[in-house]
Amino acid sequence: MDMPAPDQLEDEIRRLLKEKNVVLLAHYYQEPEIQDLADFVGDSLQLSVEAKNTDADVICFCGVHFMAETAKILNPGKTVIIPDLEAGCSLADGCPADKFSEFLKDYPDHTVVSYINCSAEVKALSDIICTSSNAAKIIKALGPDEKIVFAPDRHLGRYVSKQAKRDDIVLWQGSCQVHDAFSEKKLLALKVRHPEAKIIAHPECQEAILRHADYIASTSGLLNFVVEDSAKAFIVATEAGILHKMSQAAPDKELIPAPPEDESCACNICPYMRLNTLEKLYLCLRDLSPEIDVPEEIRVRALKPIERMLDMSF
Ligand code: 13P
Ligand code: SF4
Repeated sequence: MDMPAPDQLEDEIRRLLKEKNVVLLAHYYQEPEIQDLADFVGDSLQLSVEAKNTDADVICFCGVHFMAETAKILNPGKTVIIPDLEAGCSLADGCPADKFSEFLKDYPDHTVVSYINCSAEVKALSDIICTSSNAAKIIKALGPDEKIVFAPDRHLGRYVSKQAKRDDIVLWQGSCQVHDAFSEKKLLALKVRHPEAKIIAHPECQEAILRHADYIASTSGLLNFVVEDSAKAFIVATEAGILHKMSQAAPDKELIPAPPEDESCACNICPYMRLNTLEKLYLCLRDLSPEIDVPEEIRVRALKPIERMLDMSF
């Protein structure tokens, strides 16, 4: 495997991006070096819109599998590649389509709202997709009389139920292993040491964490808050990759990662997101592989609820 020398790797990646007319999309949870090479860094919703609208020949998705799959569903004429095909997601993996299909049999008259963190097959079983930045808006727009199943994240589901003042939404009991790992006890101890810091959290966190948050939002929402809010310090309860963009966008602010229960485990780093490395990114651009493929029958069914989300989001 011919790998450029480490000091030439980033230049070689830039050369391949240009030579092959590739747009590099990266999520905020990617390693800083990858974010800095990307044409666009964003949250799940923003990245989906970028993937849909790009005129590049190839979309290289530095994120996890369901994100690259969504790009392919939205823009099937493009070659979509991802540095590591194994970059999954504990939420998507915890909601297999066959089990979800069985589960839905008990709720035939319900509207199925699925968080974008799910497979194409689960999207194909859904009526509307949402992301953390539009979930509450979509649930509210459906109206109080609509019966709803929300999958696969129970914490986001509980959070949006509260936002919409509903206690009847049926929740699939999934969760994100990264956001599940934050410790309330350690968070409160940290807050005692930094009383001036505001706690900001992603809605995938457990209720015990969200209860103490001054602000709850998607990754892009948290980033904007750090830039715009007058506070000088923030305790950040989401994957630690976001601190890179936050420190670039607000260099004068103090950013403190929220502590996981086991502080020796680096559990606030998403192990799937971090499977993508600069070396794998180089190989993926060189070989235009691994490529994302979605069977056409699934793609067409999965596209409908994604388009419905996009129509309701802007
Ligand atoms: P965002 O849509 O807020 O970027 O979240 C994606 C994700 O996977 C959070 O864990
Ligand atoms: Fe999935 Fe959690 Fe990783 Fe986000 S942080 S990609 S929800 S495992």
